Amino acid sequence: MHTQNGTHYTWISMSKYPNANIAHDQHQQLHRGRSFRKRYRKKIGSRPISCANKDELIELRKWMKKNGFEKSCLEPAIFNETGRGLMTKKKILPGEIIISIPEQLLITTRTVLQSEIHDIVKSWTPKLSPQQAIAVFLIWEFTKGRQSHWFQYIAVLPMSFATPLYFKKAELSLLPVSVYSKAVKEIQKIKTAYNDIASFSKEHWKEFHDVFNFNNFRWAWYVINTRSVFFKGENSEYLSCDKNDIALAPFLDMLNHSSHANIQAGFNHTTHCYEIKTFDKYKPYEQVFISYGPHNNSHLFIEYGFITLGNPQDVYDFSYDDLEHLRDLFHVDLWEKKINILRENSLLQSLSISLEGLSWKLWTVLQTLAMDWNQLQKWNLILQDKVEGRNEMKVLAISFAKSLLQRAWSSHLEQEKKSHIISLADIQEEHMNLAMSLLEIQKKILSETIRIVNSINFDST
Ligand SMILES: C[S@@+](CC[C@H](N)C(=O)[O-])C[C@H]1O[C@@H](n2cnc3c(N)ncnc32)[C@H](O)[C@@H]1O
Repeated sequence: MHTQNGTHYTWISMSKYPNANIAHDQHQQLHRGRSFRKRYRKKIGSRPISCANKDELIELRKWMKKNGFEKSCLEPAIFNETGRGLMTKKKILPGEIIISIPEQLLITTRTVLQSEIHDIVKSWTPKLSPQQAIAVFLIWEFTKGRQSHWFQYIAVLPMSFATPLYFKKAELSLLPVSVYSKAVKEIQKIKTAYNDIASFSKEHWKEFHDVFNFNNFRWAWYVINTRSVFFKGENSEYLSCDKNDIALAPFLDMLNHSSHANIQAGFNHTTHCYEIKTFDKYKPYEQVFISYGPHNNSHLFIEYGFITLGNPQDVYDFSYDDLEHLRDLFHVDLWEKKINILRENSLLQSLSISLEGLSWKLWTVLQTLAMDWNQLQKWNLILQDKVEGRNEMKVLAISFAKSLLQRAWSSHLEQEKKSHIISLADIQEEHMNLAMSLLEIQKKILSETIRIVNSINFDST
């Protein structure tokens, strides 16, 4: 989850392994699909239902206590909107530390490098990334079942996720085009990380290779992706240079995300605990939230497998291809020069629109593309809105914006139609709902921006 300051990862059918078929009602609730959850939530209404007395959560608490965890005012519960999360049993005031996890309960790269698998991890070629190393560790510990020191933690982890890697091809094709392309890149990245591990273990660690498969790898990968916290570890000569800043923190990783939560998270070198302080206040029995960072919904979906409604970070991104389309349609001249200026000023990424209309970056790009030779000589004036003859330039820039928006709108409508054509037999309801919500968000942003752009009038400027 990589919290604001510093947290991030499906349970697969691993039942061929000892102790893998731990029955968790609550996991079943979490993973039985959206319609089941909807009925379940309707039944429970809007009250949170404590699940602290589930066997596996009692075991977790006992194991944590044995390892130095002190009592917390937070307890696991099922919430209407978010599923399992943590609720407070007492009033919380701004500035309070809400959770404190002792170092010995954290899983970091150091845990891996000091574990029984340290020799093989250190000899891995090419070197493992921190996330790969922790994934290998988790899979290894999982296969040990009750013999694992981490058994009680592993037993409460979700068995599956709603991230793109769990989507079938037909489900992926329902996603908005911009989300689809990011999802495909992410899937490719994870498959490469898997292949690296598979080929080394095949040659050098048969015991692991015999239990290792793509299903348990994607589970471990997403346990880390969705639940790890930011924890600056020392760099190790045995691991690749990827940032070594992840740790799994049992119990703390049951905190759900809200973009409104104000928290501070980090390792306290005096208490040797990973702590979270909240600057919000909570009444007893309310869900306590943290912020995983200022993420928009496509990021939340790709990295964590969920979205939040009314997310203030939501945007629709245009690509360089969209700009090239404008160039061809409007025969934009001085193209190379304009693109060079924009590149030098780092203005070619995040060309976005939001419910508030065009971003400053996109508007600056469109105005630049609309400039003539003389205006381009004094390009910097754009930063003070003092370009000579700016009205004409802006009128042309608005035509560019309308064209971009029109094309995006047509492509959105095409995408929407797909959901009616695709056979529903192959689509999981939860995946369908996520894709439809992402399309709906995109539609809202596009239609609002079209309205804003159509209402712009430069006559009086
Ligand atoms: C760090 S875990 C939080 C605890 C998790 N709900 C559990 O039961 O263990 C992150 C995962 O929780 C879920 N989640 C977090 N915040 C959420 C929210 N605001 N709405 C819905 N699901 C959320 C997502 O599945 C995400 O991948």
